[in-house]
Amino acid sequence: MEFKRNILCIGAGYVGGPTMAVIAQKCPEYRVEVVDINEARIDAWNSDEIPIYEPGLDEVVKEVRDKNLFFSTDIPNGIKKADIIFVSVNTPTKTFGEGAGMASDLQYWEKTAHEIVAHSDKNKIIVEKSTLPVRTAEAMERILKANSRGIKFEVLSNPEFLAEGSAVRDLYEPDRVLIGAHRSDDGLEAERELVDIYAHWVPRERIITTNLWSSELSKLVANAFLAQRISSINAISALCEKADADVSEISYAVGSDSRVGAKFLNSSVGFGGSCFKKDILNLVYIAKSYGLAEVAEYWEWVVRMNEYQKERFVRRIVKEMFNTVAGKKIALFGFAFKANTGDTRESPAIMVTERLLEERALVSITDPKALDNAKLDLSEMNGAVTYEPDPYKAADGAYAIAVMTEWQEYKDLDFEKIYASMKKPAFIFDGRNILDHKKLYEIGFNVYPIGKSALTHFE
Ligand code: UDX
Ligand code: ADP
Repeated sequence: MEFKRNILCIGAGYVGGPTMAVIAQKCPEYRVEVVDINEARIDAWNSDEIPIYEPGLDEVVKEVRDKNLFFSTDIPNGIKKADIIFVSVNTPTKTFGEGAGMASDLQYWEKTAHEIVAHSDKNKIIVEKSTLPVRTAEAMERILKANSRGIKFEVLSNPEFLAEGSAVRDLYEPDRVLIGAHRSDDGLEAERELVDIYAHWVPRERIITTNLWSSELSKLVANAFLAQRISSINAISALCEKADADVSEISYAVGSDSRVGAKFLNSSVGFGGSCFKKDILNLVYIAKSYGLAEVAEYWEWVVRMNEYQKERFVRRIVKEMFNTVAGKKIALFGFAFKANTGDTRESPAIMVTERLLEERALVSITDPKALDNAKLDLSEMNGAVTYEPDPYKAADGAYAIAVMTEWQEYKDLDFEKIYASMKKPAFIFDGRNILDHKKLYEIGFNVYPIGKSALTHFE
């Protein structure tokens, strides 16, 4: 079959894989290829066990794979054929040199730009999909334009707003699609090409077009605002625990003001995920590099409050368990950074485990999807950790349970049975406020929610 256009996506990760699968499904006249340097990952995309767990994704991939969606490691050939190239390689926070711990590490991304130049023999549209620091498009253009063959590359920014666990739904029904382009004739023409792709299923009024820099910055700001809401309510949760107020009631009361809105006001042990911290630190770095110290500090506090919340959670566990957890088994219910994903990047559970191990606790981790990743995350940590798919076994003989992830199945567990198998006094620290605290208390647990008074049987 003759395809209208060839789309290539470089980077078969959390962003590239699902996005391309949905584009292929919605645009059957386009040929979509996803390439990656990671052979195992590409093999997985071509197998029955795709490498990412996302509700609904499996079906989409199976429907279009080998029809107009292809996964390959042949990057040069993919680049050659492509009319439109999405770049969604990873951009972790730099761990070395200038900007370490804050700026994005752009080495994968720059390598990609050089590869595009090396293997292109016709004009192409390049779409930035990875979250990148503002003005990266400009740097990319410089690399792309430094070719002597007269090939024109038009760079667009098209940040991804999908959230893990709801990626397919977010792709099907996005609040908005954002496309940034130069306001030149070539820029606007490239923009139209990309708008046409999304317009296959997204209403036009939800496709926002801006200049390149606004688009790049909007992505960072969107995530910074979301994370800020969580840090704001978490700051209040600390106050609630002291002041005998209930953070859930406060969230509801405050979120009922339509100007504030109800979403993203659930207090928790802290936010995780690959984006929030990274994007905020990026914003902080950019602000600092423009000499805007107050702006940088303002946003930096969103991350600091998150660290405080995680630390506070562990401190509370140790304090309430008579100031020692040494030699005590503690079951962590959940390790993923949120429910419905196996992803553990920046999961609060990592820091909580590390701190509990420092206190010499025996940590037993259970999670329906994230145990493999947990093992990788903790491989270099010293201490007693066990991994147990069955939550009942994880809690067997434990002194305490700490809920780290809001998995639905934890709400439906038989806590009478769990209580019976635990050491007494038995503690539950609900880092997600998902359990029925009153019922747990009646069973006999000492219950410590986030941002609410504890329910204990102690005098
Ligand atoms: C986020 C953005 O939502 C998405 O638009 C962007 O493209 C990528 O980053 P994601 O990291 O998948 O998506 O997860 P999200 O659902 O935003 O949750 C982030 C973290 O905040 C999780 O650890 C979650 O448990 C926590 N959270 C979320 C809270 O603690 N309270 C809330 O009310 C909401
Ligand atoms: P994201 O959440 O941004 O999608 P991931 O880490 O899940 O990030 O995916 C990024 C993917 O990009 C990884 O599978 C990685 O192997 C791939 N990648 C990194 N550098 C290159 C490159 N130069 N060429 C092709 N793929 C790359």
